Amino acid sequence: MKTQVAIIGGGPSGLLLSQLLHTKGIESIVLERKTKNYVLGRIRAGVLERGFVELMREASASERMDAESYVHDGTQVSFGETMFRIDFDKHAGHPVIVYGQTEVTRDLYEAREKANGKIEFNVEDVVINDAKSDAPYLTYTVDGEDRRLDCDFVAGCDGFHGVSRQTIPTEVRREYEKVYPFGWLGILSETPPVNHELIYSGSERGFALCSMRNENLSRYYIQCSLDDNPEDWSDDAFWDELKRRIPKEAADKLVTGPSIEKSIAPLRSFVTEPMRWGNLFLCGDAAHIVPPTGAKGLNTAASDIHYLYNGLREFYESGSREGINAYSEKALARVWKAERFSWWFSSLMHRFPDQSEFDLKMQIAEIEFLRTNEAAQRAMAENYVGLPY
Ligand code: APR
Ligand code: PHB
Repeated sequence: MKTQVAIIGGGPSGLLLSQLLHTKGIESIVLERKTKNYVLGRIRAGVLERGFVELMREASASERMDAESYVHDGTQVSFGETMFRIDFDKHAGHPVIVYGQTEVTRDLYEAREKANGKIEFNVEDVVINDAKSDAPYLTYTVDGEDRRLDCDFVAGCDGFHGVSRQTIPTEVRREYEKVYPFGWLGILSETPPVNHELIYSGSERGFALCSMRNENLSRYYIQCSLDDNPEDWSDDAFWDELKRRIPKEAADKLVTGPSIEKSIAPLRSFVTEPMRWGNLFLCGDAAHIVPPTGAKGLNTAASDIHYLYNGLREFYESGSREGINAYSEKALARVWKAERFSWWFSSLMHRFPDQSEFDLKMQIAEIEFLRTNEAAQRAMAENYVGLPY
């Protein structure tokens, strides 16, 4: 088989790129290791920057998001007995959109299917060949049958555990990583959200986050030990701990119920440089990971896709390689800003097992500065709603 852009990975990054390319008549084929239902079974975050929303609209995949998403003009931040609001409209001039990433992925699959997009599932043993040449090709198997896909370009949208990043020789790759000494235990419950906006809460017992998907589907997280397993936590134990970590006024009105999903995610900051090797381009989690505190995972994948899509579009429309040649440097410039914000917010809101009394005083001072200083609130708001592409 032959296509113009071979995309490895049928998560939000790969699907969004494929759909955007389609709108400009550029052919692509998506190779996905799992089944569609498996991909749609993943529960991920739910805060979208304006840039992501605009890309979904450009991809003609935003109808349900536009109809069902929530507009959030701010968020609550609490630390011990202190609680205050960061006003996105006042400090950054626009809101964020709350809409589950699972729904984003579902919408993108529907858009690809409606456009008769080519997606292969249950793909195994993908190998990227001749990425440095003008005629790269993928080899892979489906149900034991060997296949080959010739292409002009390869988009590695295959996440942190994919094959794309590993294809770049170790002597070329530079990797930067910070692993946090705790995880997030998250649950979904068919209960009304405790608050109309998110609550990010730092407490002496650890971090907690109150979020939502719709008026009867809530998403809650508590910082937990990396030694924990979801089955170690009964629903009652989770709710009791969450109530201890959020402001009393919220705890008193929290509506609890059975969890319909319960999982633990580790927290990591990670970047690989460069994000391009020949005609292989890394996008999204294949190139970088952020702790979920700043909700930057999908939103940073979005800017990668924006840069790569426009570079490829420029190439096919004019023959110019200027955009694709600038891809890695341009994408990394924004990736590192998202990494910084996610690291800053994670370092501020969590309790670290080995932190000193001085470290705690620094967190308290930073929170007080954020609560009382307009410039500090503007910096947080501008980063949270999304820095420009
Ligand atoms: N071959 C084919 N597909 C693969 C391979 C492989 N070797 N390895 C991984 N995949 C698939 C995975 O099954 C997954 O569906 O690639 C996809 C990668 O999707 P994500 O991990 O969701 O990464 P990405 O699309 O970049 O998502 C960016 O959105 O999903 C959220 O929070 C997540 O921050 C992340 C963001
Ligand atoms: C979520 O709704 O799952 C969510 C929201 C904000 C975050 C992380 C996760 O920072």
